[in-house]
Amino acid sequence: MNILVAEKIADEGIEFLKSKGMNVTVDYGLTREALLKSIGDYDALIVRSVTKVNEELYQQAKKLKVVGRAGNGVDNIELSGATERGIIVVNTPDANTVSAAEHTIALMLSLSRNIPRADAHIKSRQWDRTLFQGVELMGKTLGVIGLGRIGTMVATRMQSFGMDVIAYDPYINADKFERFNVTRANTLDELLDLSDFISVHTPKTKETLGMINENAFKRVKKEVRIINCARGGIVDEEALYKAIKEGTVAGAAIDVLKDEPHPISPLLDLEETIITPHLGADTIEAQKNVGETIAIEVYEALKGKLIANAVNLPSLSVNELEQMKPFLTLVERMGKLYHQIHKEVAKTIEFIYKGELSHHSTEPLVLSFIKGLYETVLDTPVTYVNARILAENRGIAISERRVSTSDEYSNSIAIKLHSKNEIFEIEGTVLGKGEPRIVAINNYSIDIVPKGNMLLIENNDSPGMIGAIGHILGQNKINISTMNVSLSQTHKSAMMLLTVDQTINDDVLFEIQQHPGILKAWSLKI
Ligand code: NAD
Ligand code: MLT
Repeated sequence: MNILVAEKIADEGIEFLKSKGMNVTVDYGLTREALLKSIGDYDALIVRSVTKVNEELYQQAKKLKVVGRAGNGVDNIELSGATERGIIVVNTPDANTVSAAEHTIALMLSLSRNIPRADAHIKSRQWDRTLFQGVELMGKTLGVIGLGRIGTMVATRMQSFGMDVIAYDPYINADKFERFNVTRANTLDELLDLSDFISVHTPKTKETLGMINENAFKRVKKEVRIINCARGGIVDEEALYKAIKEGTVAGAAIDVLKDEPHPISPLLDLEETIITPHLGADTIEAQKNVGETIAIEVYEALKGKLIANAVNLPSLSVNELEQMKPFLTLVERMGKLYHQIHKEVAKTIEFIYKGELSHHSTEPLVLSFIKGLYETVLDTPVTYVNARILAENRGIAISERRVSTSDEYSNSIAIKLHSKNEIFEIEGTVLGKGEPRIVAINNYSIDIVPKGNMLLIENNDSPGMIGAIGHILGQNKINISTMNVSLSQTHKSAMMLLTVDQTINDDVLFEIQQHPGILKAWSLKI
C-alpha cells in the first residue's frame, strides 16, 4: 500500500509504517499542483493543518482510502466528500492536548508580563524597565470559551495561579462545570462582561467563526487580554486590531491565524500582540505522540479495522472499541452469511440487542454487519465509512431495538432481514475468550463458530439423514470438523450446520441437494 506523508510527522511514525511493509513517500515540500498530480497513486495521505483535503483533491485521489490528520482540528478536511467516497478520516485528538494547553498558558503569561518585547528590548542592548510593566494573573477572571479537552486543562491549571475561571460552552452538561470548579456563563455575553483574560478553545465551525467580533469587543471589560490557541478566524483579526488600537483590548496572544501559512493579518504589525506560527502542538512529546498514533491509525484503517479516532464514523473510546471488537467480528460474519443463503435483496434490517450489549453504542455493529453484507456482492469498496450510505441508497430501512435481558446469554444480537418473500433471522453471541458464535438461524438453535468452510442443510426430520450427509462428504474426501443438528419446534424439519476442511464444490452440493429428504443446502465460506 502506498502512503504519502505530506506534512511533517515524527520519524517514529514513518518507521512504524515502513516496518509494516507500507510503501511510504515522505514529501514535505510538495506544491499543490504536484500533490494533485501524484495523489492518484496513494492509498493513504497523512497531513497536518496546512494541506486542504477537499473536493479538488478527492477527484484526483482514485485510490485514496484513508486520510490521517496528524493533530486534532479537521477544518482543513472536507468530511462529506470523504464519507461519500468511503474514505476514512482519522485524527489524534488527545495526543497534543497537554502541549496546546501549556502553549496557551505560556502565551497568557508572556502577554501579562510583556516577555517577548522585553526580551527583544534587552537584546537590542537597551535597559528601560518602565516600558514593560505587566499585570498579575492572581485574582483575575479567566473566561474560557469551549470547555473541552484543552479548555478544561487550561481552566484547572490557571486556578492554581489564583484565577477565577468562568466558561462558556453550551454543549456540555452542568456537572462538568462543577467538577472542574468552573463558573458557568450562560451566554457568551456574560463571559465577555466578566473576563480579564479570554481564551478561546472551540473548534472552528460556522457558529464559532468570527465569534469574537466587533460586537463582542463592544461588551468586553476595558483592557481585557485575548488568547487564541484554537483556530484562526474564531477571533476576527480586523476587529481585534481595531479594539487594540482603541485601547479596549490591552493585548492579544495568538497562535493561529486566518490565513495560514501565509498570514496577511494586521495583528502582525502591532506591539501589543504576541504571535506564534501555530506552535501549540509543537513539542517533542506531542509530535512523537501524534506521529506514532496517526501511523498506527492509518495502518489499521488501511487494514479495514474500526478506529477509535475515526472522524467520520461514530466514535468509540479505546476501551469501548476493545470491548466491542469480538461483536464487530461476529456481526460482520453474520452479514457475510446472508447473501450466501439468500439471493433476494433485504428491504429492512432489524437489529435486536439483548442483555449488556443493549446499553452500548451500537452504531458500529450496524456498520459492521452492512460491511459484511455488501463486501462480497458489490463492486464498490465497502468500508465502515460508506456502509450506512450504501444501505440507505439501496432503500434499506434499518431499525434497532434494545432488550435489557437476554434468555440464555449475557449478551446477544439478533438480526432480522425481510426480503420480498422471506424473513431471515440470525442470532449470535460472544463466548469465553471473545469467540464469536452463531446461536440461532431461523428458529433453529445451533452453536457454531462462523469460520472457514461450512455446510448448511435444512432437511426432513427422518432417520438416516446425518449418516447420508456423512457418507456423501466421506466419499468426496471432505473431513467434517464440527457438526450441529437442531430440530424445528414442530419436529418436522431439522437444520444441520457443519464446518468442513475444504470448500464444498458445486458437484458435491448438487449431490447433497438431490438426496431424498434434503430440503435445501448451501455451501458457505467466511
Ligand atoms: P474539544 O472538542 O475537546 O473541545 C471543544 C469544546 O468547544 C467542546 O466542549 C464544545 O462543546 C465547545 N464548543 C463547540 N462550539 C462551541 C460554541 N459555539 N461555543 C462555545 N463552546 C463551543 O477540542 P479540543 O481538543 O479542546 O481543541 C480545542 C481547539 O484547539 C480546536 O479548535 C483545536 O483544533 C485546537 N487545537 C489547536 C492546537 C494548536 O496547535 N494551536 C493544538 C490542538 C488543538
Ligand atoms: C491540531 O489541531 O492538532 C493543531 O492545530 C496542531 C497541528 O495541526 O499540528
